[in-house]
Amino acid sequence: MRIGVPKETAPGERRVALVPESCKKLKQAGYQIAMETGAGVSAGYPDDAYHELGVDVEADPTALLGGADVALKVGAPSVDGGRDEVAWLRSGAVYLGSLMPLRHLAAVRALAARGVTAFATDAIPRTTRAQSMDTLSSMANITGYKGVLLAAAELNKYFPMFMTAAGMVPPAKVFIIGAGVAGLQAIATAKRLGANVTATDVRPEVKEQIESVGGKYVGIELAESAAAGGGYAKELSDADRARQGEILAAQIAQSDVVITTALIGGVFAPKLVTAEMVRSMKPGAVIVDLGADGGGNCELSRPGETTAVGGVTVMAPLNVPASMPLHASLLFSRNLTAFLLAFTKEGAFALDLDDDIQQGALVTHAGEVRHSRAREALAREGA
Ligand code: NAI
Repeated sequence: MRIGVPKETAPGERRVALVPESCKKLKQAGYQIAMETGAGVSAGYPDDAYHELGVDVEADPTALLGGADVALKVGAPSVDGGRDEVAWLRSGAVYLGSLMPLRHLAAVRALAARGVTAFATDAIPRTTRAQSMDTLSSMANITGYKGVLLAAAELNKYFPMFMTAAGMVPPAKVFIIGAGVAGLQAIATAKRLGANVTATDVRPEVKEQIESVGGKYVGIELAESAAAGGGYAKELSDADRARQGEILAAQIAQSDVVITTALIGGVFAPKLVTAEMVRSMKPGAVIVDLGADGGGNCELSRPGETTAVGGVTVMAPLNVPASMPLHASLLFSRNLTAFLLAFTKEGAFALDLDDDIQQGALVTHAGEVRHSRAREALAREGA
């Protein structure tokens, strides 16, 4: 069975879906592999590193994808005129990547129409067996880490407390909103840099997790549960949102750095930081909105840009994992490889739609959209 890995073409994307380490494992399992020329270069993996392992390096992406039984990509396939990757795939081929179906409805529609069996690693169930395949977690970890470094580089003061010959400087106050995978890593990283870290979330189980990585928890007792299962959160009721707003306003006004990571259902960013809250911050304060890919947690964020609001800097970086492409690709590639190897029988990927992981990750199959939320969103679009 042949695996094809095209070059990523989304603006700013520097990752590659498969690194040489994984090629070795997949070849041992019986797969043939072809990479598009230069696919790994921006991530730090030159063509030679693949060639040496007996991987084919092909210049023509049309032939590469046309000959693939399984196509691996970091994100959704491109469907625009100049590079219509879905049209190049064979009907019946398997597509595996972090498709984010709700953010890429046009690609989902095209994959279904083409008869491709597409799996999204961001939709796999959050079970122990699926943990090694979870691209959301491995990428969120990078996002949380890098978000803190961006804030520290932008801030006009130290993160740690310093005792110097010229006297003492107090530590920076960092406030993290959302303590899932990215938020917990942000707390741990800010703590390692010596900041005074406070964090909040809406799922009740996170208090202990925040404390276990060195943060101080603040939050409200919710009148209605915000846990949507699987670690995901849902929207707060109006009353809870108003009460949470008071706590956020008080914390944000006294913070040097605010890092936001909140997502609803793992996809969309609720607007939690208002313009008024931003204006209450001290001059020189920094907000890093890590919810930018989902629209942003701050009312004043412009996804992909850094804006100055009075003396406050609001950063809303997109696709943060792509800024650390070597490790991001290594971990992503290990996640995809774990998925493929879990279902490999006699050197080939075996479809098993009764398996809970395949079922959860399945987006399109046999001409249909099987991901229910994407199907509903497409129906709303068509209505
Ligand atoms: P996420 O990326 O969907 O959301 C980030 C965080 O934002 C969540 O903790 C969520 O509760 C929080 N949030 C949402 N609305 C908020 C609001 N209004 N105010 C404050 N915070 C808000 O979540 P992520 O990071 O993907 O996962 C969350 C949890 O799921 C993890 O901490 C872990 O416990 C669990 N998980 C389990 C896995 C497994 O068992 N295989 C894999 C991945 C995550």
